[in-house]
This record gives sequence, structure tokens and C-alpha cells, in this order.
Amino acid sequence: MSGRVRVGVFLGGASSEREISLASGRMIAEHLPRERYDVVLFDTLALMAGHPKLDAALREKALGLLAHRAAHEELAHNRELPEAFQRQVRDAAAAAAPATDALQLAADGRRPIDVAFIALHGAYGEDGTIQGLLELLGIPYVGSGVLASALAMDKAMARKMFAAEGIPIPRGVVVERGALDEAAARERARALAPAVVKPSRQGSSVGMSLADDAAAVDAGIDLAFGFDERVVVEERVRGRELTVGVVGGRRLQALPPVEIVPKRAFFDFKAKYDPALCEEICPAELTDAERDAAQDVSLRAHRALDCRGLSRTDLILAPGRGPVVLEVNTLPGMTVNSLLPKAARAAGIPFGELLDRLVRLALGEE
Ligand SMILES: Nc1ncnc2c1ncn2[C@@H]1O[C@H](COP(=O)(O)OP(=O)(O)O)[C@@H](O)[C@H]1O
Ligand SMILES: [Mg+2]
Repeated sequence: MSGRVRVGVFLGGASSEREISLASGRMIAEHLPRERYDVVLFDTLALMAGHPKLDAALREKALGLLAHRAAHEELAHNRELPEAFQRQVRDAAAAAAPATDALQLAADGRRPIDVAFIALHGAYGEDGTIQGLLELLGIPYVGSGVLASALAMDKAMARKMFAAEGIPIPRGVVVERGALDEAAARERARALAPAVVKPSRQGSSVGMSLADDAAAVDAGIDLAFGFDERVVVEERVRGRELTVGVVGGRRLQALPPVEIVPKRAFFDFKAKYDPALCEEICPAELTDAERDAAQDVSLRAHRALDCRGLSRTDLILAPGRGPVVLEVNTLPGMTVNSLLPKAARAAGIPFGELLDRLVRLALGEE
């Protein structure tokens, strides 16, 4: 595409990661090279005003967006995020147009945007739903398609794909509420303790717990059932936690692994977004063989789910066992200081250049 490119940054939405998305989207808009891009922020919450699952507060906000009323983003009281981060969130919410505006053709038949940069995380964004809508409209978008997004979002399904490709994953059991084998699955899950219990389709460690014994596994399953009817229970793998970004189209590049050293029991919601609670070593100090193994398994995980454009694989480097894959994120955090942008910088790719590359990939300009 020659000339200026109109990018719609899709952000906000209705997932439990709404705030993170607002911050990511705003930074993406700030850093897309100005000489090439015109950028508009679109809050996808507007598309969901009639969705039965919205709570009253979100519905109110959605209706406000549709009426182009200036939004005031109150952070959920259970979220403790650094002040600078909160400012980004509020500014983004105030600047965003309803995403319905991005979908309608102008009177001359022209689309309002050339390409969508999806900065959504979690449900209704990272899970293939918005991707499906954009497919229907014929609007190119950054990142993975419908299938890869849906697979990566569902940890139980992603585990099946990894297993089929021989990618090492933790021993695990999927427990489904009300299924015929629920009791038998629970029994096998209890035997995995010490374990990690997580809802199949959530992110940011929401609804997740560490279970040291069988009783705690049961309690963890009940907790996770509050978020999804399918729960994944995994053996707790000990080792160093790494995350590895992958970018590119047909020609894929694995970025330098980043080591995550939580100062809490595990990399929970708060630790993920507060730099004081978690140390990130970028690039991780690894032997060449360890680095190669981590990058190789991340490329394989990216391909196993048929990801496109970018992904970030979370894994544990277990002594004597090598990298064990926990999950693939198809729309990883994209603030300047998020893990994938940081790793890109370590590989000599500044944030603006990374964003430019991702948009070019979406437009088929590799
Ligand atoms: N099987 C496991 N063994 C050890 N730690 C785990 C395991 N699964 C998850 N964790 C810890 O929990 C964090 C979040 O889990 P993850 O599977 O990446 O889900 P999400 O990031 O979507 O919440 C990981 O970063 C890791 O610290
Ligand atoms: Mg993760």
C-alpha cells in the first residue's frame, strides 16, 4: 500500500483485561510511525451493548459510547495498577470512538480504515470473535486468524494441539463441569498435586490457583468453575520461567527469551502489571543450547496453533527436562514495556518499527 495508511486500533472491549487493552492500544497509537499512519482508537465495547453477558456498569458504558458520550473509565476496585498505567487507561477510554464507527462504509463506499490493529486481550478479542467479524467485513487485521486465536485462548484445546505436535507440556487433566466423567477427572486431577489450577479460557492468571494438596485441587477447581465450565489442572513444573516472542509471516523470527522472576508465589495479575513485583531479565541469561531450545519450542508452538504475525509463548525451563510450554498468547501485551516489545528491542527492533512491521504483515507486504 502506498500513501498514508488508516489504522483502527481496536481496544477496550468487555473482557477482564479491558484496562490492559486500553493501555496497550493507546501506546500502539502513540508509537505507530506518524509519517505513514493515521490512527483512530475504537472501543469494541460499543459492539456489545446488547450482549446479555454484560453487567450493568459495562452496558451503561457501552451505551454511552454509542451515543458518543465522553467515557470516564473507573478502574475496577479490585485492580491495583501503577498510577502511570491508570492514566493511560483513562486517556484511552476518553479518546476512543465506538467501534461501530469503524464498520460502516462512508457514502462513497470507502471503508473508514485500511487495517485493524487489535489491542484486545482475553474474551471477545483475543479469542477469534473480533477476528471473525473483521473477516466478514473484509478488513485486514494484525495477528492470528479466527482458528489460531480461538485455540490459543482455550488452554484445554491448545494442550491437545501441542500434544499432537509432540511439544512438551505439563502433565495435566481437563475437568468439565457436569460432564459424565467429572468425578473421575477430579480424581485424576487430585493426584497431580502440587498443581496449578486454571480456567480453560481466561488470561492474566484470573481464577487461577496453586494447589499443594488434593483438597486444594478440589477447592481450586471450584474456584475456576466460577470463570469457565472447563478447568485445566496441571502438575506444577519447577524451573525458570521464560517467555519467547515470535514475529513474522512466512519467515518467522523468535525473539530473545525473557526470564520472569516473580516476587510473589506465582506470576499473578498484580505481578504481571506492576514492575516492582516481578523482575524481567531481558534477554534471559541462558546457555546457547537453552536459548535455542526455548526459541525452537516457541516457533513450534506458534506453528502448531497456526498463529500469524506475532505470538508470545510462556514456558518453564525445567532442569533435566528442557522447555515445557504453558501457553501461547496470540495478542500479547503491547505497551512499550511489555514483554514482547522489550524482547524485540533486545533484538534491535524498536517499538515503532515492530508495530510498522506487524501492520505491513497484516497488509500482506512482507
Ligand atoms: N503447570 C505450571 N507449572 C508451574 N507454573 C505454572 C503452571 N501453569 C501456570 N503457571 C504459572 O502461572 C502463570 C500463568 O499461567 P499461564 O498458563 O501462562 O496463564 P495466563 O497467563 O493466561 O493466566 C505462569 O506465568 C506461571 O507463573
Ligand atoms: Mg501466561
